[in-house]
Amino acid sequence: MTWLITGGAGYIGAHVVRAMTEAGERAVVYDDLSTGIAERVPAEVPLVRGSILDADRLARALAEHEVTGVVHLAAKKQVGESVDSPLRYYQENVEGLRILLEAVVSAEVPSFLFSSSAAVYGMPDVDLVTEETPCLPLSPYGETKLAGEWLVRAVRRATGLATASLRYFNVAGAATPELADTGVSNLIPMVFERLTEGAAPRIFGDDYPTPDGTCVRDYIHVVDLAEAHVTVARALQSSPGTDLTLNIGRGEGVSVREMIDRINAVTGYDRPPTVTPRRPGDPARVVAAADRITTELGWHAKHDVQDMITSAWEGWVRMHPEAARS
Ligand code: WQD
Repeated sequence: MTWLITGGAGYIGAHVVRAMTEAGERAVVYDDLSTGIAERVPAEVPLVRGSILDADRLARALAEHEVTGVVHLAAKKQVGESVDSPLRYYQENVEGLRILLEAVVSAEVPSFLFSSSAAVYGMPDVDLVTEETPCLPLSPYGETKLAGEWLVRAVRRATGLATASLRYFNVAGAATPELADTGVSNLIPMVFERLTEGAAPRIFGDDYPTPDGTCVRDYIHVVDLAEAHVTVARALQSSPGTDLTLNIGRGEGVSVREMIDRINAVTGYDRPPTVTPRRPGDPARVVAAADRITTELGWHAKHDVQDMITSAWEGWVRMHPEAARS
């Protein structure tokens, strides 16, 4: 088996490559390096530099590496950016997926794992989000991920391709400081940045209908997320015709204020947050019912929020040595 991992030079992708190779799977990375970093790809893993929109290059990569499975992570993933640039998001995330699936079907690759997101749920009005919770995405990003799931399922029905769509909740942490997220578009690195700049962390609204008034999210360690990909990839390999849609979370909600308190403790800054107005489009609570993947495939998360913050901070300090407190 050889897995083509699109976006494998990215933050999450590099962790998936690491987990797949450590599990003994052969991998090839396909990445345009627009946000990915080539140094994240291990020397023994071939890196094919190419756009997800380049049908010929994809077809050649599938043939040359005798690919028997695809893990598709390459996508644009910033909610705010997608509101400003919907055409670019639909091109990369939906047209790119269509082009990839066309190459996969033509090359008769039997297994396909699609990176989806909790953003497909929009503002779910439930305590725990199950895979049957209605999907009402609020952003073009979330729409492209839902449309992607529909396309993947339609191709499975038409061709017998074994497919899985994994709905990531809030991903954080790092396996090693070198693999830490270099982006600053999510809570933990955004708070790190504020602390490093000498500013107070910001809470985007504390008037939500939650226990402490701040938004509640389900944080999942990127190492656990990567392990889930290995588990699902093997399930696809072993049972053709598989059709899985799975939440990848821990089933435990943590509030923004709790996260900031933990970050203050881990980093040693202990700087009280300020409350700013709500960020448009933020749901009060998005927490996974994460038991389907456990029941069906035996996977469960092993790392907690403390591990996520500590490992993320080690990565941040490696990139920003001035941030370290004695
Ligand atoms: C978390 C909470 C903010 C920064 C998004 C995507 C989702 C997935 C993860 C790709 C929110 C609050 C943040 C800050 C704050 N991405 N916050 N102060 O919005 O839950 O999910 O990223 O798949 O699809 O939608 O993540 O980290 O941006 O925010 O109060 O300085 O932290 O308002 O409530 P989010 P986030």
